[in-house]
Amino acid sequence: MQNSFKNVIFTGIQPSGMLTLGNYLGTMQYWRNFQNFSKCYFCIADLHVLTNCLTKKINFLKNSILDTLSWYLACGINPEKSIIFVQSDVVLHTQLYWILGCMSSFGELSRMTQFKSKLLLQPKNVNLGLLNYPVLMASDILLYQTNLVLVGEDQKQHLEFTQKIAKRFNKIYGKIFVIPKIFIPNLGKKIMGLQNPLLKMSKTNKNVNNVIFLSDSIEVALLKIKNSVTDSDTPPQIFYNPSIKPGISNLLIIASLLSKNSISVLEKKFKNYTYQQFKESVSEILKKFLIRIQKLYFFYRKNESKLYKILEKGSYIANLNSQKFFKKIRKKINI
Ligand code: TYM
Repeated sequence: MQNSFKNVIFTGIQPSGMLTLGNYLGTMQYWRNFQNFSKCYFCIADLHVLTNCLTKKINFLKNSILDTLSWYLACGINPEKSIIFVQSDVVLHTQLYWILGCMSSFGELSRMTQFKSKLLLQPKNVNLGLLNYPVLMASDILLYQTNLVLVGEDQKQHLEFTQKIAKRFNKIYGKIFVIPKIFIPNLGKKIMGLQNPLLKMSKTNKNVNNVIFLSDSIEVALLKIKNSVTDSDTPPQIFYNPSIKPGISNLLIIASLLSKNSISVLEKKFKNYTYQQFKESVSEILKKFLIRIQKLYFFYRKNESKLYKILEKGSYIANLNSQKFFKKIRKKINI
């Protein structure tokens, strides 16, 4: 089953809630193409979700893992070609995490933007896991000698940290880690909220009207587009410029990526449209996409025994491959 490609790709998603159109457009839509010329690891990063559990019990993970896997399959990830696995099924992630954690400074971790914003928003919920979150990500990636990581823009800083820590280790102990490159798409790297187009569309957004979930019913999703924030220009002007037209630009990006038409083609098409007509067109495009992907999702989601088999096979291979490499890491540090 395993292909013999030299290029190694790694990526993952936290099963922390329902997946969003942002997850899809920012990264998942690209994943399937990489499978044909690279060895791909698609991880379901369940341990990262525990960073939300300082005071509350998390009891949704089992289902959420199966949901996430079904979305991976719906996006065209093929378990015959790629390695799909759950992070906590490969214990070496946490072993390497400890080693790399001992090489990461408090200062650099506490300066991470995501950590700082959590500290600001919910200071009482900040735990060590949140601070060390990028170290676990680095371990996920470096354990497989990854060349390329596929992510959206919000993960860029964590990826730069991964590169830094890999270089640091190599410098001290001698070259062992591959320094991974980062693939962040140009368009779609940061899909914004529909009610607040200045903020990222996120699974954990408190206002659900900001977010199109991949599992939203068609009616709900279209209502969210209908009520999305544009602006009050009269006559309406539909063109791409995120700094002066953030809401319109966000909808144009969504429409462009889902319809595979360039932004300039869409700008011409929508030139004399009212905002209502524009939103109706975006809705039509979104509707087609959601119907197609949800059909696939439900097809995969209903066969739980098959889903468990995919994960079992994925974790078997991920364990095997990481064990071989981890022996070399141990040797380097004499443990
Ligand atoms: P997570 O689960 O927050 O997001 C998964 C992926 O979706 C991208 N993304 C977006 N892209 C564009 N617009 C948006 N609004 C948007 N929202 C999310 C993210 O950039 C990401 O690529 N820590 C990671 C999971 C992880 C990981 C890894 C990723 C764990 N280990 C190793 C890569 C490599 C996370 O929480 O992603």
